Amino acid sequence: DDITPTDTAAAGAGELTGVDRSLTNYGDTGFSRFIRRAFLSSAGLDADDVARPVVGIVNTTSDYTTCHRDMPQLIENVKRGVLEAGGIPFVFPVMSLGEILTNPTTMLFRNLMAMELEEQLKSQPMDAVVLLGGCDKTVPAELMAAASADIPAIQLVVGPMMVGSFRGERLGACTDCRRLWSDFRGGRMDEASIAEANAELAPTAGTCMVMGTASTMGCLIEALGIALPFAGTAPSVSSQRLRLGTATGRRAVELAREGLRPSQILTERAFKNALVVLSAIAGSTNAVIHLTAIAKRLGIELTLDDFHEAAARTPLLVDCKPAGSNYLPDMHRDGGMPALLKTLAPLLDLDALTVTGKTLGQLIADEPGPQPWQRVIRKLEDPLGGEGALVSLTGSLAPQGALIKAAAATPELMIHEGSAVVFDSLDDLEARLDDESLGIAPDDVLVMRNIGPVGAGMPEAGSIPIPRYLAQQGVRDMVRISDGRMSGTAYGTIVLHCSPEAAIGGPLGLVRDGDRIRLDVPARTLDLLVDETELARRRNELQLPEPPPRGWRRLYAERVTQATQGADLDFLQ
Ligand code: FES
Ligand code: MG
Repeated sequence: DDITPTDTAAAGAGELTGVDRSLTNYGDTGFSRFIRRAFLSSAGLDADDVARPVVGIVNTTSDYTTCHRDMPQLIENVKRGVLEAGGIPFVFPVMSLGEILTNPTTMLFRNLMAMELEEQLKSQPMDAVVLLGGCDKTVPAELMAAASADIPAIQLVVGPMMVGSFRGERLGACTDCRRLWSDFRGGRMDEASIAEANAELAPTAGTCMVMGTASTMGCLIEALGIALPFAGTAPSVSSQRLRLGTATGRRAVELAREGLRPSQILTERAFKNALVVLSAIAGSTNAVIHLTAIAKRLGIELTLDDFHEAAARTPLLVDCKPAGSNYLPDMHRDGGMPALLKTLAPLLDLDALTVTGKTLGQLIADEPGPQPWQRVIRKLEDPLGGEGALVSLTGSLAPQGALIKAAAATPELMIHEGSAVVFDSLDDLEARLDDESLGIAPDDVLVMRNIGPVGAGMPEAGSIPIPRYLAQQGVRDMVRISDGRMSGTAYGTIVLHCSPEAAIGGPLGLVRDGDRIRLDVPARTLDLLVDETELARRRNELQLPEPPPRGWRRLYAERVTQATQGADLDFLQ
């Protein structure tokens, strides 16, 4: 009885404790094991079974998470892999976060999912865990949990959807959802056409197949080295996805035996590599928040400047929407992440250890390098776009920083001064945006506030729609500024994550209609051109919103950090 009832972390490298890990506490260790055997026996597990390494498999299947609808089949393959390698699989549910069926935003629940999973990883017997996710917030939540629990872990995702088709044109979720909707709003598409296109936007199981947050995180798990090669890009419906499930299950058993932990893989090196990849794919701005949060769980500080520096030396190489024109299955056919990592090798730290047990350099050693037929993954000498896909900004409107995805913005608006049109909430926006009497001009600056982490749980509402009457005149982009996020699938000249946010007294809360705002992306500045005495006067009059009355939303509003800090709960970092 050398295992204490509450022991979770004591099992070190290669030290398997199997079903005797995390014993239920009755004050009698022998009895705890005895009764546990009785109940495992009731589940059909005999002495041979319970002597094997235990591999937990996180099940994030839910009817509400349509992207994960193929996960049950993937789970069967992971289980097979675990059994083949001599382990015993335990599938267990964790709250599932589906982007499209969650109000107000899954971001409000990422930390809750991370907390739930961390506690399950610590309190249930597990020598290793397979983290199964896919839809946007599931992967960062799982990595945050695994980083904090620090038991051997390997990430797998369901993989991207296949591409749809509409009247001879390829379509996909959800960059084209946004483009078609703005065409409809602008009167360029009728009801019947948009209904027909709607059925093709998400034509198979899997995650959004543009370079949105799910695809970005899929690419980043390979860049971080916490998943097997091709885990990020193999389509959800492909047989390769199933084979990845089996291989991941097998590898998880080896991880249990080797005792290789997330903290040995998710090192500063790995994060620096991830930042380079994020720029080369012009990935989702949400990944900036997620990577910051995951890193902080391991005591690694990533600042907006780190993201900026990586972006400044990395050209845009992957031609996927919204920055380019293709889809994840196309990137996969071009060799997926191993091909991209090989291309990016001069910019990467190849000594980073991966979950395979090999370094990143060893892992891509046999990759052939850029091929003449590759179209979606471009060469370093022939990039799709220049450096600087993501630019961090500071200035009087965002003293702690803000972010713009320059790769998906309009070049002519990179330096722009205009008059503010301010919206105080999403209801306010909905009520007034299309009201022609507001007289919004194309060179005005749309400001959306109180949608930061504390203000509203940080919904993806930063890509404020173009007012209908301007859209009908052909205006496709305007400078838009908020303390919220935008979907990784969105595009436009959109400044996000303004920190500190309005709801905690940040300067965004002081802007009034007609104030001049200046954005200068090359100079990396975002300024409110109002003098300090006037701002001080407005600050005195400012009324901050009341926190939610109870429950998770209350805890969240009281303890969440700003976007630039990862928007984790302060006591989890
Ligand atoms: Fe699930 Fe886009 S909605 S990945
Ligand atoms: Mg998304």
